Amino acid sequence: MKDSSLLVPAVFATVALAAPAAQLTQRTINPTVYLTGESTMAKGGGGTGTQGWGENLRYSLSIPVINKAVAGRSARSYTVESHFAELATLLKPEDSVVIEFGHNDGGSLTPTDNGRTDCPGAADEVCNTDIQQGILTYPAYLINAARKFTSLGARVIIASPTPDNPWETGTFVYAANRFTTYANASASGFAHAKFVDHGQLVANEFQKLGASAVDAFYPIDHTHTSPDGAALVAQTFIRGVSCSESLLRNHVKNQTSGVVGTCL
Ligand SMILES: *[C@@H]1O[C@H](CO)[C@@H](O)[C@H](O)[C@H]1NC(C)=O
Ligand SMILES: *[C@@H]1O[C@H](CO)[C@@H](O)[C@H](O)[C@H]1NC(C)=O
Repeated sequence: MKDSSLLVPAVFATVALAAPAAQLTQRTINPTVYLTGESTMAKGGGGTGTQGWGENLRYSLSIPVINKAVAGRSARSYTVESHFAELATLLKPEDSVVIEFGHNDGGSLTPTDNGRTDCPGAADEVCNTDIQQGILTYPAYLINAARKFTSLGARVIIASPTPDNPWETGTFVYAANRFTTYANASASGFAHAKFVDHGQLVANEFQKLGASAVDAFYPIDHTHTSPDGAALVAQTFIRGVSCSESLLRNHVKNQTSGVVGTCL
């Protein structure tokens, strides 16, 4: 009796001292990467055998990747449906969040609001329609998400959207659209947000591969990629991360020489 009553407090004391240190170490070593975006990133892509590039990212990173992209969403509808807010409840310091939108953000709010078009503009413009009051601009949605995530200690990568098939006409054509400019500007206001010009990185690889190889990456339309296309689109993203000052760079599994493409 005497022995065990002495022993028990000693064991508790050891556990109480050890636990916080062990948790801290685990968090630092093992952050998680969360992906936010639409069908070009989402599991199952745009359907009919296509695939989103977010599904391939895990093969290039040494930490867990959780793909929270949802087909059909824009920066606006992803926000309005609370996907960013729900992600914020999961984040721990040093997790990374990739934000890549643009394919569903264009179009016009009149005469019909489809629920995903953003308010036009690069700043704090606000639009109202018959279905929603207080529609914000694409940069405002991204900045609000980045502000929330970085305030929680997470690192943010804002990426430009993937290109539609740049060989569609038979001649290579890629011109960054306004969402690239907006994504770049949105990241620039944060110490812990970085811009990756994913659209340009993909375009550069697709230009080298030529029309027939790239056409085969777009089996159903000019937006959604085959699984092979998704693999290359994911690799170009890793190239962009490797060339950036993002913390995520430290978790790229492959040797830099084994990563497709070159820095921009
Ligand atoms: C991103 O912004 C920086 C700083 O303004 C600028 O130098 C760079 O050209 C921009 N890149 C793109 C792709 O817009
Ligand atoms: C890294 O290597 C894995 C396994 O070979 C491969 O699936 C992945 O695409 C590579 N990533 C890059 C960025 O080259």
